[in-house]
Amino acid sequence: MVERTLRDKTCLITGTARGMGRIAARELAKLGARLILVDIKGQEGREARDEIVELTGNDQLEFLHCDISSFSQVRSLANHVLERYDRLHVLINNAGVVNPVYRLSEDGFEQHMAVHHLGHFLLTRLLLDRMKESAPARVVMISSDGHKAGGPLDWDDMEIRKPWGRGLISNRGAFAGYQKSKLAMTLITYEMARRLEGSGVTVNAVSPGYFVKTTVYDNMRGLFGLGCKLLRPFFNDPERSVKTYVYLAASSMVEKESGKYWEHLATKESSAASYDRSEMKRLWDWSERAVGL
Ligand SMILES: NC(=O)c1ccc[n+]([C@@H]2O[C@H](COP(=O)([O-])OP(=O)(O)OC[C@H]3O[C@@H](n4cnc5c(N)ncnc54)[C@H](OP(=O)(O)O)[C@@H]3O)[C@@H](O)[C@H]2O)c1
Repeated sequence: MVERTLRDKTCLITGTARGMGRIAARELAKLGARLILVDIKGQEGREARDEIVELTGNDQLEFLHCDISSFSQVRSLANHVLERYDRLHVLINNAGVVNPVYRLSEDGFEQHMAVHHLGHFLLTRLLLDRMKESAPARVVMISSDGHKAGGPLDWDDMEIRKPWGRGLISNRGAFAGYQKSKLAMTLITYEMARRLEGSGVTVNAVSPGYFVKTTVYDNMRGLFGLGCKLLRPFFNDPERSVKTYVYLAASSMVEKESGKYWEHLATKESSAASYDRSEMKRLWDWSERAVGL
């Protein structure tokens, strides 16, 4: 893996209080990046920032508290970044959630869809002109192979209410919300990459692999939840998964790569549903209306 320095490069990464986002932030800091760290957890996010500064000696790290599922908070975040940073070279859309409790975001969208897809879509669109001015620049969407587990988007149920059945708590519902939202992220990666051809901004999606050792499944109930807690020590190493984040953010080897799906430093196929061009276009238009662009 050929890496280059990120000195004088500005990178924004979401979901940095814990898990893979936190590790990725540490690795990018080691490469000398100026970093904007974002998380819904204020206290933990600030502690993560302080720890990374102490570990790496890189003090060009700012932490910003933001709930990515909230369009007003995403707009405030983007305004702050645009006012304060005249360049943005890397955007890693990593924040993620798996929650069996059915919840709508403050804008009325199902929580997985709001965090993974809509919030990140809005953030990316608001920052895109700055990224074009900073080109070469890179957007990295943290998707999941979980997007392959179900069918295509259900346009009659974009609130993803049906899989929860009549109740408000369901692991099956959480899996469906997760799957559809990660499929949406993957479809949008391809559509955005096509629209950005020739702009100097690349867009790629990443699958970190299955069952990576983080706390993302901690909200799950029943046998699955218990199994995840008991088996977590045997889950996959997040340090390995994060290598692909860093590769796509920093390596000269992939400077021109765009519109691809990656896992463990290699490209791979995403689901058949994710390559449907008419779905990409339809989702783009739906997402613009949803986030008010
Ligand atoms: N772990 C896996 O096996 C796995 C597999 C495939 C893909 N992924 C994806 O990889 C990414 C990172 O996951 P991870 O395993 O590192 O998870 P994690 O340890 O739970 O870290 C995710 C971070 O994002 C934060 N976050 C959640 N919702 C947010 C919001 N609305 N706004 C801002 N920040 C928010 C979380 O805060 P809270 O703790 O408060 O929720 C947490 O600090 C996610 O997109 C996930 O879907 C993970």
